[in-house]
Amino acid sequence: MPLTINADRLRADFDALSAIGAVAAGSDNPGVNRPSLSAAHLEARRWFLDRAAAAGLTTQVDSAGNHSAILPSRQPSARTLLLGSHLDSVPNGGRFDGALGVLAALEALRTLREAGVALPVHVEAIDFTDEEGTLVGELGSQALAGTLSAEALRLPRGGRPALEAGLARAGLDETQLAKARRDPATLAGYLELHIEQGPRLTQSAIVIGVVTAIVGITSYRVTFTGAANHAGTTPMDARRDAGLGAATFLLTAREMVVRDFPGCAVNIGQMRFEPGAYNIIPSLAELALEFRAPEAARLAELEDTLLSLAGLVARQSGLELNIEPLGGCTPAPMSYQAQAAIIAAAESLALTHTELVSGAGHDAQALAPITPAGMIFVPSRAGISHSPLEFTAWDDCVNGANVLLRAALILAEAA
Ligand code: HGY
Ligand code: MN
Ligand code: MN
Repeated sequence: MPLTINADRLRADFDALSAIGAVAAGSDNPGVNRPSLSAAHLEARRWFLDRAAAAGLTTQVDSAGNHSAILPSRQPSARTLLLGSHLDSVPNGGRFDGALGVLAALEALRTLREAGVALPVHVEAIDFTDEEGTLVGELGSQALAGTLSAEALRLPRGGRPALEAGLARAGLDETQLAKARRDPATLAGYLELHIEQGPRLTQSAIVIGVVTAIVGITSYRVTFTGAANHAGTTPMDARRDAGLGAATFLLTAREMVVRDFPGCAVNIGQMRFEPGAYNIIPSLAELALEFRAPEAARLAELEDTLLSLAGLVARQSGLELNIEPLGGCTPAPMSYQAQAAIIAAAESLALTHTELVSGAGHDAQALAPITPAGMIFVPSRAGISHSPLEFTAWDDCVNGANVLLRAALILAEAA
């Protein structure tokens, strides 16, 4: 009888985890606020290890803070199949993003252990540190892949103070993060279950997404500097208004991406003015710029276009410009072997499936360069995510967890 997960047990875990860092618990749209290495996130990680230990699984935390539950193979020299995602959330986010993948991975290990399946691989459920980039972005998965750069730590997009405070809270030593690197020869692959965070599965009434590639993401801090002056007496045509430069850049950047870069995205998630008074023309405008593209060449082209635009806007508005690169992650194709395993698993469950590119970043893109990596998507209601309105029907969650379990078995037996 082909294996399936214990849906009630997964649901009990999901409800318990959703209560950690809960936002508006009990409302129609409860969310979570578990930014990476915050107290709530660390509590969720302790809870995860407790659940793993209670299931008789081995637990470990590596030097980048990645938390793991392990079902060891009877062959000590076996390679490791990683199943994972992340327990950190965006500020005031949804309770499915990342959490579903970690819990489904844990449930897959429990199911395999109860079934007494003898596997030629160790199977490891892993929660990666700082996937969301509240601090750096894919910090834990890049550390495991050996690609976490000194530059990304020197100029983290969440700022050095937040990174240092988070590492201190978690008891992590920045100089030891790189020691989380795994030898690719010890890995048999990586699978991640995740909500789609977009509308395509819901619109097409298909229940399983087979991810073919993941977009690359680049971040910059863009600062326009003008001159503070009196908001009432300064003639409208004699202002060096940093706010005007920021707004012009935002609007024009969006128009250019919509017109010239189909399949790409640009976002300005923060805009901060100084001095920040009603009656002072802003002398400084600082923007959190992030842009995305499915291929590396396109991402580079988009970067050139947006940085050139920032320079043009600054010149036209009589402003100074400072642009600070804050790293990012490279686009990644998913393994054909992993995609085939996911398709076979979905078909063994008679579930509809389709292939799609991920417009969201994921830890799987950090793993893809060092081991065959694949992702399974399940539908997001109305395509909403990074919001307490994020929701995935429980049947879809169970379907995704069963596809993860069976795809893991296919990859394990092929290892
Ligand atoms: O931002 C993203 O794309 C992902 O949710 N971290
Ligand atoms: Mn995620
Ligand atoms: Mn996310």
